[in-house]
Amino acid sequence: MYRHSRTKAASGICRFIISMMPPHDTYIETHLGSGDIMRRKPPASNNIAIDLNLDVLRSFNCDYYVKKVNGCAHKFIKTYNFLGCEMVYCDPPYLLYNHFSVAPKRFIYKEQDHIELLELLKGLPCSVMISGAPTTLYDYLLKDWGNLELQVMSHNCVRTEKLWFNFTPDGDHWARSAGKNTVDRQRIKRKAQSWGNIYQALPRGERIAVLSEVMNVEAQDAE
Ligand SMILES: C[S@@+](CC[C@H](N)C(=O)[O-])C[C@H]1O[C@@H](n2cnc3c(N)ncnc32)[C@H](O)[C@@H]1O
Repeated sequence: MYRHSRTKAASGICRFIISMMPPHDTYIETHLGSGDIMRRKPPASNNIAIDLNLDVLRSFNCDYYVKKVNGCAHKFIKTYNFLGCEMVYCDPPYLLYNHFSVAPKRFIYKEQDHIELLELLKGLPCSVMISGAPTTLYDYLLKDWGNLELQVMSHNCVRTEKLWFNFTPDGDHWARSAGKNTVDRQRIKRKAQSWGNIYQALPRGERIAVLSEVMNVEAQDAE
């Protein structure tokens, strides 16, 4: 079975990525891999996982129903009937020249594959988030998108993960899926806003310390 060179869960970044996602009816993960985000995410009405590698799809388990598509993400994006209510999360293999890949040859992405993928994603009418290592190619092709760099722990060293997204992050709706009833949802919303305000008031260095601790908690949770 193809094993991933790293997992998102071990870096504690999963819930951070999920928390940025806007409301959506259909969640689509185009390069499932270990599926760390899909597994931790509250389900959407429809959930679709795509991977070229059948072994990857077979070994993926989730608490809710996920439609598994064994095929090329590019082909799926070209043929799927997007309506605008989808959230596409895309974690493609890293660019070859800045990553030592353990993937078999047929799963390796060349620069032209990355360019094609980004052009396809840019044409979608819905929310899209891409994650990967920082690259100038992505910065150039996605210059109109928002982006964010995160320092994450990986194999006992710190590395940078970058997110590119075509929407304005607004996490208010997560209080709705976290709460048991209206009162509970309002309580969670107030708590989230109050923690947000405290975080916003911190000096930059302290923000990193706090964020890093939160990610450590998430990483331990994932073990
Ligand atoms: C999650 S991505 C890579 C994660 C990380 N960015 C890296 O490079 O280590 C790896 C997955 O993408 C899948 N994959 C590679 N090319 C693909 C394609 N064209 N369409 C769908 N899945 C693909 C592989 O089978 C693998 O499971």
